[in-house]
Amino acid sequence: MTMGDKFTYHDGWLYAEDVAIEDLARDHGTPLYVYSKNHLESQFAILRKALQEIDPLICFAVKSNTSAGIINVFAHLGAGADIVSAGELYRSKRAGIPPSQMVFAGVGKTEKEIEYALREEILSFTVESEPELERINDCAGRLGRTGRIDIRVNPDVDPKTHKYTSTGKRENKFGIDLERAALAYQQAASLPHLEVAGLHMHIGSPVMSVQPYREALEKVVPFCRELKKHYPTFRHLDIGGGLGIPYSPEQKPFAMEEYAKTVIEAVDGLGLKILLEPGRFLTGNGGILVTQVQYLKSNPFKKFVVIDAAINDLIRPAFYEAYHHVLPVRETRDTRFGDLVGPICESGDFLAQDRDLPAVDPGEHLAVLGAGAYGFSMASQYNSRGRPAEILVSGNQAEVIRERETWGDLVRGEHIPAWTNGNG
Ligand code: LLP
Repeated sequence: MTMGDKFTYHDGWLYAEDVAIEDLARDHGTPLYVYSKNHLESQFAILRKALQEIDPLICFAVKSNTSAGIINVFAHLGAGADIVSAGELYRSKRAGIPPSQMVFAGVGKTEKEIEYALREEILSFTVESEPELERINDCAGRLGRTGRIDIRVNPDVDPKTHKYTSTGKRENKFGIDLERAALAYQQAASLPHLEVAGLHMHIGSPVMSVQPYREALEKVVPFCRELKKHYPTFRHLDIGGGLGIPYSPEQKPFAMEEYAKTVIEAVDGLGLKILLEPGRFLTGNGGILVTQVQYLKSNPFKKFVVIDAAINDLIRPAFYEAYHHVLPVRETRDTRFGDLVGPICESGDFLAQDRDLPAVDPGEHLAVLGAGAYGFSMASQYNSRGRPAEILVSGNQAEVIRERETWGDLVRGEHIPAWTNGNG
């Protein structure tokens, strides 16, 4: 559970499990995502063990890492999936997760997406608004099916995280406030092609303390008891994801025991199946982004380490002011104060700012930690940079789970109209 515990030094070189990062960088080039299968499995085991008394369905939040090779690891462990688009449904099913274990959230589901999910018979739709109830009902009616629904309630608690990643406060776009939720359930029950299956909450991420979960459960559980009385089909409570991880060696690991105790006590005697939607907790510290130093640059005010990775590969520092720890691939304790910057034409293109960075020379490699969640899955091709390759390591085996994008991939599907050159 500690930060990057599967990425350690042997004889002065950084390894992912039993594979030397330097070898991977040489063989596959950089920037390069490297994941430890063992870490993914251990995190899943920690969560499952802590909550074994209530035997929850753990729905992996695939948005944190959408690579088939990663989703498949969780499919083998019996995970379900938390999806937010038809594309995520398609990917997750292809990677081995049965649709009957998928929950589908998101404020903007289109008719096409809803129909696809109905045909695939997913476990439940996480409904975010009253008009969405109508839409799912209409789609289900047209297809001669029943839409199972959870209403996402907004418990109005502060998860004490970055403003861009809190979701369970009044002013956020997600869910329906607790006061209006009873009416929404009545509406759902009155619609002929819907079945009231459960209730959903997700307060934000990363949440570093258990208190916001406790507060949210205190609000939501009594409401679930009422709902159970009214709706005989009401059978599960989805308590969302957001469980934090340490991003720096100083940060403490998430208090899993306290979290588990809080959840188990809160749902005691409730008689509902519990669902969870962790993403980052399972994948975050299971991945690193390996990059090569290109130049050392300085001006009278600052020092820059220019690398070949950029915000198109890992946007979290720019987007959320997120901290990612940086390690040298060749072990050294020497440091150099400055910024770690990429080649993109934006001043916001940094992976670290005003920090002691490992003192390595151009040509040497660095590893950016905590990159297993919302790293590759948020990557783009900005500045016409193909997205990196991804490697999954298990023991001494290493396999490419996604190839590096080529220039051909950059222009795939593009067309130049004949009339742009006057021939049209
Ligand atoms: N369930 C729902 C409904 C969610 O919206 C999310 C995350 C999760 C579960 C999983 O959260 P996790 O356990 O991975 O923290 N891109 C950001 C975080 C935004 C997450 C959006 N929803 C980041 O890089 O930190």
